[in-house]
Order: sequence, then structure tokens, then C-alpha cells
Amino acid sequence: MNSVTVRVPAKVNLQLAVGPLRDDGYHDLVNVFHAVSIFDEVTATAETGMRVRVEGDSAGQVPEDDDNLAIRAASALARHAGRSYGVSLLIRKSIPVAGGMAGGSADAAAALVACNELWGLGLPLADLLEIGADIGSDVPFALLGGTAVGTGRGERLTPLEVGGTFHWVFALAEGGLSTPAVYAECDRIREATGTDAAWPQTSEPLLDALRRGDAKALGAELANDLQPAAVMLRRSLARTLDAGREHGALGAIVSGSGPTCAFLADSETHAVELAAALRAEGVARDAVTAHGPVPGPAVGQRP
Ligand code: C5P
Repeated sequence: MNSVTVRVPAKVNLQLAVGPLRDDGYHDLVNVFHAVSIFDEVTATAETGMRVRVEGDSAGQVPEDDDNLAIRAASALARHAGRSYGVSLLIRKSIPVAGGMAGGSADAAAALVACNELWGLGLPLADLLEIGADIGSDVPFALLGGTAVGTGRGERLTPLEVGGTFHWVFALAEGGLSTPAVYAECDRIREATGTDAAWPQTSEPLLDALRRGDAKALGAELANDLQPAAVMLRRSLARTLDAGREHGALGAIVSGSGPTCAFLADSETHAVELAAALRAEGVARDAVTAHGPVPGPAVGQRP
């Protein structure tokens, strides 16, 4: 086999509770991840050396050098195997770049799965999860898919039971936001307002809404502690969120560190209407529909 293609989904955070800043520069989280049907595709082809190329609308915004998370993941996997494997990675991007939907982490997860297959390593998921956690806090979830709660940095995962499919609209922004900058702004706001960061707790009503597949209840429970920081750094997001609520979204939230905004619709038809309304209002670069949860990385093969 000289080529393996892996399709990998984006994520939205249904609950992102951010605890105090830790000594290592990270925050303890309760992070309810939910994989949605916006996909990147990563093709790994046997090659000497490590190379990456990115295709898609936002290709110019993704590094094509050793800073690329997919290349870092492939290199970490080769090191783990103790061999000097090479690979050429082709990433076809649909997940917004620096958009709060873990696109880079998804590509890293896809690269781990693709290279594990291409190089015939046969490593179990547990090993990939461990290697992935060193690449980024969101990479383990990107390997898992579905819906799961992450604690610690977000890398310690417990899969969650979900009793249905949810329909979403994502309002894509012009340009991205830096994740470290949004966490730093969250800390700054807390300090400026004298707000102590509470120890993050999983929302039981949210877990219950997920179990029951109850979109109305889930919409009411969506919560993101990074939202005020993202809105502070990108004021236009307040208007985007309002527009979604005005058009009947069951919940409106910044996705992760933003600037993508996520809206929960009450049906597929409502999602299509909501996306059209957001486009017509001009409050986003584009608005796309998706559903969740969807499974994690899926392997296909190209000759
Ligand atoms: O783990 P990852 O490299 O994706 O994290 C990017 C940045 O996001 C970190 O450098 C840190 O500033 C912030 N972060 C955090 N707490 C977490 C996860 C990420 O402060 N649990």
C-alpha cells in the first residue's frame, strides 16, 4: 500500500468550562466535545523525508512546514516507532482555519491514523491518543469523534451517550483567532473584574439533554467560558450571535476559542433556513449546515 486517505470531522464545544491558569500555562477544563459533519481529508503517501501540502479555500493560511500539526504528528509517530519513516501528506481543508473547530488537531489525528496504516505499525488507539495529547489538547478527541467530555487540558476523555442527531449552523468568520490569545484574554477579563475561576464542573442538565436527544434543552445549556474573551477580541461576533437568536436558534455560542459561531437548529430544514438568513444578514463570511455527532477518523485508500 503506498497511499492512505483519512477523512476527519471538525468539533464544536457544547460546554467549555475553564478553570484557573495552571503553572504549565494550561487551564483545567471541562470540555464537552461534539464531532460535526464538516470534514478535512488527509492523504498520506510513502516518501523519503516529511512533506505537507494543503489544498482548499483557506490553504494559504496553513503552514506547509514543520509547524504544521499533521507533520508534527507524523514525525512523533515515526519517533515512537523508532524508525526514520517518511511521508508526503496532502491535506484537503474544509474545516475553518484558526476557527475554534479544531481543524489543525483534526489534521494531526488524521495523519496519525493514516501513517499508522501506511507504515503498517498497527498501534492501538490508546497509543495514538497518548502521542496525540503531546501534539495538542484537542488531538485525542479528534481521534475519537462522537461526543465526549474532556478533563485535564481536555485530553482525558470519557465518551458520552447521545440519544439523537443534532442539526447545526456554523457562521464562518473572516480570518481566525489565536487560541493562546483568547485564553489570555479570558484570564485578563477575570483579573480585571476580580472574578475567581471556579473549578470546572460538568453540567448535568447538558448531559441529560444529550442523553435524551433533546435539542431544545441542549440549546439552553450550551455554555462557553471563552466566549466573552472571543467577543472582546472580535466585537462583531456579538451581532452574529444575536442574528442567530433572532432567527430562532435554540442556542447560539462561540465555538471553542472562535471566531466561528455555532447555532443549534430544531430540524435540518430549520438549519438550512437559519444559514440562509445569516448569509442574507451579512453577519458572517459564510454559513454552513452540519449535523452531529459523527464518528471519528475514517480510513479509505487511494491507489
Ligand atoms: O494544547 P494546545 O497546543 O492546542 O493549546 C494551545 C494553547 O491554548 C495553549 O498554549 C494554551 O495557551 C491554551 N490552552 C489552555 N488550556 C487548555 C488548552 C489550551 O490554556 N486546557
